[in-house]
Amino acid sequence: MNLQNSTALVTGGSSGIGFAIARMLIQNGARVAITGRDERKLKEAADALNAHPIRADVSNESDVKKTLDEVLKAFGHLDILVNNAGIGVFKNLVEMDRAGFEAVFATNVTGAMLMAREAAKHFIQRKSGNIVNISSTASLRGAPNGTAYYASKFALRGMTECWRGELRQHNIRVFLVNPSEVLTNFGAAAGYEQKPNPTKLRGEEIAHAVKAVLEMDDRGFTPEITVFATNPKD
Ligand SMILES: NC(=O)c1ccc[n+]([C@@H]2O[C@H](COP(=O)([O-])OP(=O)(O)OC[C@H]3O[C@@H](n4cnc5c(N)ncnc54)[C@H](OP(=O)(O)O)[C@@H]3O)[C@@H](O)[C@H]2O)c1
Repeated sequence: MNLQNSTALVTGGSSGIGFAIARMLIQNGARVAITGRDERKLKEAADALNAHPIRADVSNESDVKKTLDEVLKAFGHLDILVNNAGIGVFKNLVEMDRAGFEAVFATNVTGAMLMAREAAKHFIQRKSGNIVNISSTASLRGAPNGTAYYASKFALRGMTECWRGELRQHNIRVFLVNPSEVLTNFGAAAGYEQKPNPTKLRGEEIAHAVKAVLEMDDRGFTPEITVFATNPKD
């Protein structure tokens, strides 16, 4: 696809990887809407990006419907959904509380499904569209303390394959993008410290991968792309 004059919706575009993806899309000529729950952070990001802000929680069904309505009102149509909003809770199994587990699934799994469902209805009508699911290397293998987060990313991988199976016949491309560690606010929000180091990935590298997969001619697509830092140091 040609990103010039395309339209995109990036969930969780107010920070980190989503912000970098929104900026990359805008730099390449797209009109972009971003979502997030924190209104002030969202407005600051939208002002910095020249993006359209929509305050919405992906785990809230009426917020999701409102998001699609607002995007269509602002842009007329949608070409790209980037399902990026995500949170983490990292605890070992015997300390895992139900509320934390369900909160991760509400955003990372249910939220992604609700957003994709509403976008897919529109994409099927148009016989065209792109869904980019930002998963993680946590979708590739398990690890200690990963019960909630890793399982949510495995679930996102599973849904990606189901949607791909259903939506290809409508010319809709569904991509899975697996970043390894990226320096963002994610760790702080999840209650752990990420050690900054210039050898680690930035949102820009993930945005680069998203741009690359989207720009292939619509007759083809890369189902999945994983991004590692070349030689990361703590
Ligand atoms: N950083 C990493 O190392 C890494 C590695 C692999 C994959 N990922 C994935 O990359 C994605 C982006 O993470 P990030 O690292 O950029 O983290 P981040 O800087 O914390 O950004 C997360 C974004 O999602 C938004 N968000 C969270 N819950 C939301 C909800 N329920 N509804 C709407 N927006 C919500 C946040 O804004 P509000 O809080 O204002 O809602 C924020 O804009 C996530 O899916 C994450 O799992 C991250």
